[in-house]
Amino acid sequence: MRILFHATGGKPDPWLADLTQAVPGAEVRAWQEGDHAAADYAVVWQPPRAMLQNRTGLKAIFNLGAGVDGIMALGDALPAGVPVVRLDDAGMGVQMAEYVSHAVLHYFRRFDDYALQQKEGRWRFLKPHEKQDFTVGILGLGILGTRIAGALAAMGFPLHGWSRSPKDVAGVTCHAGADGLDAFLAASRVLVCILPLTAETRGILNRDTLGKLPKGAYVVNVARGGHLVEEDLLALVQAGHIAGATLDVFREEPLPPAHPFWQEPRITITPHAAAVTLRGDSVRQIAGKIVQLERGEPIAGVVDPSKGY
Ligand code: NAP
Ligand code: GLV
Repeated sequence: MRILFHATGGKPDPWLADLTQAVPGAEVRAWQEGDHAAADYAVVWQPPRAMLQNRTGLKAIFNLGAGVDGIMALGDALPAGVPVVRLDDAGMGVQMAEYVSHAVLHYFRRFDDYALQQKEGRWRFLKPHEKQDFTVGILGLGILGTRIAGALAAMGFPLHGWSRSPKDVAGVTCHAGADGLDAFLAASRVLVCILPLTAETRGILNRDTLGKLPKGAYVVNVARGGHLVEEDLLALVQAGHIAGATLDVFREEPLPPAHPFWQEPRITITPHAAAVTLRGDSVRQIAGKIVQLERGEPIAGVVDPSKGY
């Protein structure tokens, strides 16, 4: 069995070695420009168009992440009918829960205000926020959104969640679809975005939606930069409607040095580091799914092309 590998921005060698060891009988090779030789499976992150366009014979394309926007963006260049398979958690759930819990606690316990006071050398006790008023709204109740909800529920935060289809998640007031969005936003003192980036969700964090959050709300975006209209967030932070934002993802990555976010003290920036792909967990998951496919069994994590995630 032949496996073709390419991860934009990553080093292939450790992956080639681990996949070779994990998949019985596999010949694993790094894709190079001009490689049109046969392959049964592709394992990719942000693959170049030339890797997959006009390729025949693939049984599945495995994505080295949860978000498949980098693959789906290839559109008609993707081989027709070949399943695209995302990573299911694979160690990212706990990382996301840690990152978002940290951000929520940072705002809830007023570390943002204390950091600004420290810059001015001020010693002043600030009235704590009331937990019952500090509702966290989670946009996206999938694999990672429900892990985030579980971690925040354990600390007693009131939770709301929003998804495409109606859900029943313990400890979460669930809203669904376009009709449920306004009530969800009105309830969210902290808005966490963990949606996939699709035609429907691009630009969902904009002047209109962010303006529907309660005054003094916080925004945490750990999904994709394309969800956020950056100018709208900056204007709302500067106007005082949004009290702060923690952003892990940006329209352009790396965030350009001249970007105004760098200079805004109410915006915290991390370099797309909220939940990284762990090689050991990912290789085990992909190898297991290849074995299932070879046996003719169904697998989890197959992307629905009509939804884009
Ligand atoms: P998932 O399991 O596919 O969950 C996606 C959730 O979003 C589902 O609840 C889905 O609703 C909801 N959704 C999708 N489109 C919607 C729409 N139009 N309206 C309302 N709800 C919608 O995905 P996941 O594994 O949780 O990952 C989510 C995203 O996190 C990834 O796509 C990726 O972009 C991002 N991510 C970021 C990092 C990082 O380091 N920053 C790391 C990993 C992942 P249904 O349940 O009804 O389908
Ligand atoms: C990372 O951003 C992922 O989608 O896994």
